[in-house]
Amino acid sequence: MSAEHPTASEPGTATPLVVVPTYNEAENIASLVARLRSAVPAAHVLIADDNSPDGTGRLADELAAADPQVHVLHRAGKEGLGAAYLAGFDWALQRGYGVIVQCDADGSHQPEQLPRLLNALDHADMVKGSRWVPGGELVNWPASREILSRGASIWVRLWLGIDVKDATGGYNAFRADTLRAIQLDDVASAGYCFQVDLTWRTLRSGFRVVEVPITFVEREHGASKMSKDIVVEAMLRTAWWGINHRLGQLRQLGRRLAGRTRRASVSSRSGGR
Ligand code: GDD
Ligand code: MN
Repeated sequence: MSAEHPTASEPGTATPLVVVPTYNEAENIASLVARLRSAVPAAHVLIADDNSPDGTGRLADELAAADPQVHVLHRAGKEGLGAAYLAGFDWALQRGYGVIVQCDADGSHQPEQLPRLLNALDHADMVKGSRWVPGGELVNWPASREILSRGASIWVRLWLGIDVKDATGGYNAFRADTLRAIQLDDVASAGYCFQVDLTWRTLRSGFRVVEVPITFVEREHGASKMSKDIVVEAMLRTAWWGINHRLGQLRQLGRRLAGRTRRASVSSRSGGR
């Protein structure tokens, strides 16, 4: 079957693939997949499960057996959200999906808002669902998480000097070409700073990032995998990227100044002849 006329189970170049990383999301995964499938019937879903002890992987297999547009990537063990996404992206790019979406499994990201992200991709290379642009909302998020998230956004904007309001946000859509261009091979971010890493790479590669407002709803079942290690990793890596970027700018400036001095001395010598 050609790419122009995909069947329901075969991706075309415009088919979105929603990658959903899971670790102990047995109570959430079925309803999320059902909502995604009804919100955007053309979309495929890939569940990237890290061998969840609660049997999420088995449930995912049942969902996939019942629906040719649902797929499962079983991974050996818990390696962090970043590693699960990288494996999912690789799977997607090898199969020719034109649009790739990141979405949490716990219901925090509303499938009903996915069309908004996909529409904005018409004039962007990456679209970020954003809590911190006008129209963005939080439902039931504890104050401690809101403070952490707002603090993280400020930290990121200070170090990287970017104008993205919700850089740590995890509801994102990419054109496949964007993911192919941003060199995923050397992404080392394991935890939630993966979201910042991808945003930063996309911007630095000269691509257009657009934020659209989303309603982020705190999960009703299961627990967040946020930890102190994840926060520390995000803070350190972001600062490191910022420092490297500034050093790079300084080196460039140094080279430019050296070039100008050289040209000035050559022209003054030839002018003296
Ligand atoms: N496969 C896999 N492996 N999935 C994981 C892992 C892992 O090691 N760790 C987390 N996940 C999955 C969860 O099962 C869930 O589907 C999604 O990643 C997000 O994890 P949560 O633990 O629910 O994240 P959160 O609610 O604390 O954090 C949210 O906000 C962060 C800050 O803005 C998420 O949207 C993050 O992506 C975001 O960076
Ligand atoms: Mn969550």
